[in-house]
Amino acid sequence: MENFTWFNPTKIIFGKDSHLQVGEVTAAYAKKVLLHYGGKSIKATGTYDAVTAALKSAGVEYVELGGVQPNPRVSLVYEGIRICREENIGFILAVGGGSVIDSAKAIAAGVCYDGDVWELYSTPAQPEKMLPLGVVLTIPAAGSESSDGSVITKAETQEKRSCCSDLMYPKFAILNPQLCYTLPKNQIQAGGADILAHVMERYFVPNVHTDLTDRLCEATMKSLIGNLPCVLENIEDYDAWAEVMWTGNIAHNGLLGRGRVEDWASHNIEHELSAIYDIAHGAGLAIIFPAWMRYVYKEHPARFVQFAQRVWDIDTAGMSEDEACHAGIDALEDFFRGLGLATHLSEIGIGEKDFDVMARKACVGGTLGNFKKLGVDDVKAVFELAL
Ligand code: NZQ
Ligand code: ZN
Repeated sequence: MENFTWFNPTKIIFGKDSHLQVGEVTAAYAKKVLLHYGGKSIKATGTYDAVTAALKSAGVEYVELGGVQPNPRVSLVYEGIRICREENIGFILAVGGGSVIDSAKAIAAGVCYDGDVWELYSTPAQPEKMLPLGVVLTIPAAGSESSDGSVITKAETQEKRSCCSDLMYPKFAILNPQLCYTLPKNQIQAGGADILAHVMERYFVPNVHTDLTDRLCEATMKSLIGNLPCVLENIEDYDAWAEVMWTGNIAHNGLLGRGRVEDWASHNIEHELSAIYDIAHGAGLAIIFPAWMRYVYKEHPARFVQFAQRVWDIDTAGMSEDEACHAGIDALEDFFRGLGLATHLSEIGIGEKDFDVMARKACVGGTLGNFKKLGVDDVKAVFELAL
């Protein structure tokens, strides 16, 4: 096991009607906030009315900035920074999914940064101070509600880059599974793939003697695999949503990676796809992850055999090591397909045109991953396997 530090300060407030607490919880931090949200969903679902009523009754004044797009853009971040400075706002409340939360984190960092906030995403510059923020989560997927990261896109250059800092953890995150009842099917599918991917980035490591976190990862994956089909079948299955929402949080709050080196090659490769083609991050991962697995499994096959046996309950007796590895990867791909996700680029109309440029951009900071270190040619080979 690797040495590690464990730190996650985000307070989680979980359960039925929990979003109604947002007024009193926010009032403990600020009397005036930027209320940040995405497109139409928050108003169509009634969440906007419930949140603003709760803020008003707790005496919290708010200035609004909606319009965050999936794959959030730095252009709106600049707008948020301007508003916070002009209105003297000291706290941001993000109501939405990963895109809204990441945009809120970028604004919170940018308000306190002297230069262009994009530098925090595109150079080694780190935030030294940030406004505090809180979250009402409306989709379990990205895990940004209690992660230390934010991922922002600069549309002009088709770059999607992340910034990570201990300052990025929200003060609180409110998780009410009932808010998921209005999610469209494609977002549920993509969100599920992202949750699994967050665990797999931590599970597929070269480390040995990681028994506890191996088993925590396996339990988290099994819970997601068992419960996600239930919410697709019955969108108001509260108990299944509660499992999925909590799983989404556990998958990316850092715990599952403690004592392990983690990988993140598949995420970085996917970010190049969503930067150019503007696809949902989780939908991209459902394509990239099986391809990455087929490219790297020979580095540490025992880990893939364990994945087949413990996550997919595959009886590998009588199989060669290679067959057992493939059985696990095939099971994952079958699961994605069963959810209704595409697992090849050609199915979503993406060809090899941009493989070169995406592979080069993905490796701009050096090699990717730890399970197997990937250079430009390796990343291109993963794209080719994904085709
Ligand atoms: O914009 P609106 O109208 O609100 O609709 C949203 C959006 O179109 C809709 N939606 C959200 N909650 C809803 C709902 N529709 C109906 N009912 C609800 N309750 O869902 C759509 C997708 O929202 P988005 O926030 O983009 O989804 P997600 O949470 O998957 O976030 C994806 C972003 O997070 C980044 C991804 O790269 C991507 O940009 N990630 C952030 C991470 C982090 N900060 O730690 C880690 C992740 O690996 C990921 O990279
Ligand atoms: Zn992700």
